[in-house]
Amino acid sequence: MTARKIIIDTDPGQDDAVAILLALASPEELEVLGITAVAGNVPLPLTSKNARIVCELAGRPDLPVYAGCDAPMARPLVTAEHVHGKTGLDGPEMIEPTMPLQDQHAVDFIIETLRSEPEGTVTLCPLGPLTNIATAMERAPDIIPRIQAIVLMGGAYFEVGNITPSAEFNIYVDPEAAKHVMASGCDITFLPLDVTHHALATQARVDAFRAIGTEVGRTVAEWTGFFERFDKEKYGSAGAPLHDPTVIAYLLWPELFSGRHINVEIALEDPLTLGMTVADWWRVSDRPANATFIRDLDADQFFSRLTERLARL
Ligand code: RIB
Ligand code: CA
Repeated sequence: MTARKIIIDTDPGQDDAVAILLALASPEELEVLGITAVAGNVPLPLTSKNARIVCELAGRPDLPVYAGCDAPMARPLVTAEHVHGKTGLDGPEMIEPTMPLQDQHAVDFIIETLRSEPEGTVTLCPLGPLTNIATAMERAPDIIPRIQAIVLMGGAYFEVGNITPSAEFNIYVDPEAAKHVMASGCDITFLPLDVTHHALATQARVDAFRAIGTEVGRTVAEWTGFFERFDKEKYGSAGAPLHDPTVIAYLLWPELFSGRHINVEIALEDPLTLGMTVADWWRVSDRPANATFIRDLDADQFFSRLTERLARL
């Protein structure tokens, strides 16, 4: 089986970091063509540095990391240090990366890669605001039909918002970008809060990360042990929701997930609902289905397989 080619677009973020590690631990199934950093959880200088920290932790200093957009398409950047800490990877002490950042802009890398790889063979995996993806589409519309699929972490419906009462962070930070991506007509799958809030890194699961006994295991245990504070205080949840690794897990083990192909629109007009993903889960509108919206997963299997893969690094 040839490995599926993916580009991970990310704003590390501890959960982004675990997603990148899972992808790099799965070379038989996934070929990561590059990692593109975007401003989100923390500003771009930090997300592009953190992406390199994670690559070096995975023993992959060869993997190209590109810096992308440092602000949303049409509004000021909103960050989430209150969740991820000042560095974006708070928890364990992390060493400065030595691998270089690529000179090429992330948007140009996305465009160039989609133009050079055979049509329909590259999947985009956005784990943060969709600024890089939408900017690439706007700058080079010819790439849109060349995209195999977009599998993204973002949005919320039954779970409602985590950054506002109605919006999930990734979509909220750049709602214009999200609207642009939805208008592309690409094959889009959402891993929203509705499913990621079932993927909780409980103490037993964090202990299993630590029990791997490697630097990766210890680091992941400390990352998840750090960024659980926000969700525990807000939701009283039993641990950190591992949002972004569900994107990679969906590519590896889709059988663990369930959802529906429905209409999803991005609210832009009213400040109260800005960035809300209006998911027609009950198909009450006549709006055409335009995305797969995932609502549930087998969390035990997700964590046991994730832990097994992390142990390979
Ligand atoms: O709302 C959760 C999402 O926002 C995750 O991708 C997290 O890393 C942050 O980017
Ligand atoms: Ca993220």
